Amino acid sequence: MSSAGGYDEYAFIAEMYDHVAPYRDRPDVSFFVDAAREAGSPILEVGCGTGRVLIPTARAGLEIVGLDLSPHMLAVCRERLGREPEAVQNRVQLVQADMRHFELGRPFKLATIPFRPFQHLLTVEDELSCLGSIHRHLVDEGTLILDLFNPSLETLVTRPIGEEYGDEPEFSTPDGRRVIRRHKAVAHDRSAQVTQFEIIYNVTHPDGRPERLVHAFSMRYLFRFEAEHLLARAGFEVEHVYADYQKGAYGTRYPGELLFVARKAQERR
Ligand SMILES: C[S@@+](CC[C@H](N)C(=O)[O-])C[C@H]1O[C@@H](n2cnc3c(N)ncnc32)[C@H](O)[C@@H]1O
Repeated sequence: MSSAGGYDEYAFIAEMYDHVAPYRDRPDVSFFVDAAREAGSPILEVGCGTGRVLIPTARAGLEIVGLDLSPHMLAVCRERLGREPEAVQNRVQLVQADMRHFELGRPFKLATIPFRPFQHLLTVEDELSCLGSIHRHLVDEGTLILDLFNPSLETLVTRPIGEEYGDEPEFSTPDGRRVIRRHKAVAHDRSAQVTQFEIIYNVTHPDGRPERLVHAFSMRYLFRFEAEHLLARAGFEVEHVYADYQKGAYGTRYPGELLFVARKAQERR
């Protein structure tokens, strides 16, 4: 199984990523850019992908390091950055590294993990190792924003295993492929809190040839207080828990997101 949720294994995901409507239209970018403005440079984005959040942050005048394990996602990010003004490019550094153990040799005021990369870590050891690496890279009282989905109890109980679901609008890639995606939960390990998923890309090439591409990956779901305890073990104090990117308090909608703003504590417990 891939160590980066399949993003390092399959090049096609990086090619398609910026065109997928639920990714392209995620309402989180201004939340992260505002947090970056508030914290000031430099920022570390863990699991930066194709730069969906990183590039708007650099455009806003902040220095940002983007870390990702997938060479494919980073290649798309580099290509996108190449189309930005030089001043924006100069504010960005991209690093291929594993979020579980990295050493960048400099401290950051803010670390973010937008859109759930943390949930590709499937064990508590890996989660703590990642949080430990981030902790080492933050200035005293630096901030971590950890962005998870809030697991829906109903979905966990009733989602059929092995059946395709989800209707997404068709999208096109610049080379003329038309794509409709479907989703499938392939297995659910309730004790490990890990679900194996497939996202199926049904592609029609410009000459009419069909192709089926499958992104297979696993994700671990975390509950609110479990994540709070994990953050405390890693030396963070939770300041806010939000249910959405408009800073609605956790619990004001369900399931919503599970979005933590945490401060590096003076001393690790
Ligand atoms: C859903 S994408 C999110 C990308 C970006 N943050 C965004 O908001 O669009 C998940 C990203 O996490 C990265 N990732 C997964 N596991 C990783 C790991 N162990 N170390 C570094 N990056 C990882 C993947 O390569 C992928 O780019």
